Amino acid sequence: MDAASSAQPAPVTPMPVVVLISGSGSNLQALIDGQARGELPIRLCAVISNRAKVRGLERARAAGISCAVLNHREFPDRDAFDQALQRLIDSFAPQLVVLAGFMRILTPALVRHYQGRLLNIHPSLLPKYPGLHTHERALAAGETEHGATVHFVTEELDGGPAILQARVPVLTGDDAETLATRVLRQEHIIYPQVVQWFASGRLRLDEHGQVRLDDQLLPEPLCLDEPAAASGSDYPL
Ligand code: GRF
Repeated sequence: MDAASSAQPAPVTPMPVVVLISGSGSNLQALIDGQARGELPIRLCAVISNRAKVRGLERARAAGISCAVLNHREFPDRDAFDQALQRLIDSFAPQLVVLAGFMRILTPALVRHYQGRLLNIHPSLLPKYPGLHTHERALAAGETEHGATVHFVTEELDGGPAILQARVPVLTGDDAETLATRVLRQEHIIYPQVVQWFASGRLRLDEHGQVRLDDQLLPEPLCLDEPAAASGSDYPL
């Protein structure tokens, strides 16, 4: 056997990732599980929450991930909090920072610092319904479909280039809770997918601020429809 035919594929170094949360952490759980199943070439090096005693921290501890709480109320203003947050994140040297239900608006300085390596998931089909109460607003507007979007974070709130969306039909009788539950189930599919693309070097934000997957420009986000994506796992909310 010559050297070429006996060569093993080079081992993939898992990408260090820091996840920021404020609450339940079901999207965090989807990443933990994807990583544990060997589907995500990542190392979850830390979970940072701005709230103590949230379920997401319990999930992180159960998975043996370092946890830190940085309470925004202990800082005089947003700039001071974000400067401390940036120092804390950088102490783990991540190549990717994942916002997973982190309920704080980030300062432009922090966003710029992580440009191209900061992802968020938002529970609407952006550009529709940036901000809060997305499910209520989609129902009040009589939408027939709703969903979630994974995007690169820019200085515009929920306005960064979208990568992947999950579309969910609005059903007769839906209220905000039932709709949120079905949307969240799809979030647990699309967020790990995007993280997998990024961590394996397939996804990037180019120098013009546009999304490229396998070097192809994505002028529009890719989209999964609920039936196609419905086989995903079911995380307790
Ligand atoms: C999700 O709906 C996500 O889209 C939004 O916050 C929620 C977080 O849920 N940004 P969880 O904490 O991951 O369960």
